[in-house]
Amino acid sequence: MQVAETVDEHPAVLVTGGAGYIGSHAALALLDAGRRVIVLDNLVTGFRRAVPEVAVFVEGDIADDALVRALLAEHGVGAIMHFAGSVVVAESVENPLKYYDNNTARSRSLIASALAGGVRHFIFSSTAAVYGVPSDEPVDESWPTRPANPYGTSKLMTETMLRDAAAAHGFNYGALRYFNVAGADPAGRAGQSTQGATNLIKAAVEVATGKRDSLAIFGDDWPTPDGTGVRDYIHVSDLVAAHIALLDRLEVETATSHVLNSGYGRGVSVREVIAAVERASGKPLPCHVAPRRPGDIAQMVANSDALGATIDWRPRFADLDAIVAHALHWERTIGAQLAD
Ligand code: UFG
Repeated sequence: MQVAETVDEHPAVLVTGGAGYIGSHAALALLDAGRRVIVLDNLVTGFRRAVPEVAVFVEGDIADDALVRALLAEHGVGAIMHFAGSVVVAESVENPLKYYDNNTARSRSLIASALAGGVRHFIFSSTAAVYGVPSDEPVDESWPTRPANPYGTSKLMTETMLRDAAAAHGFNYGALRYFNVAGADPAGRAGQSTQGATNLIKAAVEVATGKRDSLAIFGDDWPTPDGTGVRDYIHVSDLVAAHIALLDRLEVETATSHVLNSGYGRGVSVREVIAAVERASGKPLPCHVAPRRPGDIAQMVANSDALGATIDWRPRFADLDAIVAHALHWERTIGAQLAD
């Protein structure tokens, strides 16, 4: 008699940095997709309350080998989504070794633990900062990787480790190179609670809710249509949906890894963001022109054709007004409580 083999189609997923901005959205999306979720976060920048209640939460560090190996075994983890790390570009210039420690050395430990624990799939949050060299045209994945700061280098080194480890040890991975991530869960369950955030949409909604006096426009003399910086803002819920679709893909095509830009391929200026915040809040946004920020570039937009061609993903919130409205809603309500 033939006995049907029992296969757990969806082994548990370890989400590092799952108490942080993008990681907490990923944990929710995985749970929505019916996955078991284990969150590992050291709570240095994350918030315990950001972790969904039904996820298993472990407070600890990705480089604590004994802890990580024990939890991989205990929970039968089959895949890792790795969000933990440091993300402030200017800080990486002032304190590069912190970035090579948090983003590179500790990722190396995590990858080693993953190998030891038989984890088959790994998704890494990489960044457009790996490119470094500005471009007037949308940037595709073949664009040279010459990071302009230690943040970008620290992430690129982890991409490189994954590439080489996957070739040697037979697991597969996806590295998603995020462009400018913004917005919040449309259902209001999660959002960005980062203290002292430097990113534009977060800063703008903090001004709109009276938490900051005025938004600094870092330069209005860039070679762009309205003189302000142009970026490719992607809604955090679309971004984490791409992670889920990519994981599905890695589980099916187990011999193939992917490095993919994550953006919409559409440039938006600082002034366009300000106008969207004014539409969402229904009042003028106090702002002032300030000097260019050191290291800033005029424009960075993704060519994300490969993302759409590789995974089963169609963006649902590729609309600046939706991104800003969700960010503002979070800032007004739950975000205020979380950041207490
Ligand atoms: N900006 C302002 N005022 C602010 C904040 C930002 O005018 O208060 C402008 C910037 O000059 C830039 C644009 O808004 O033109 C976007 O700036 P962000 O700080 O929001 O984002 P960056 O493009 O500088 O950096 C982001 C991520 C980095 C990542 C990078 C990859 O924050 O982690 O994209 O390209 F490395």
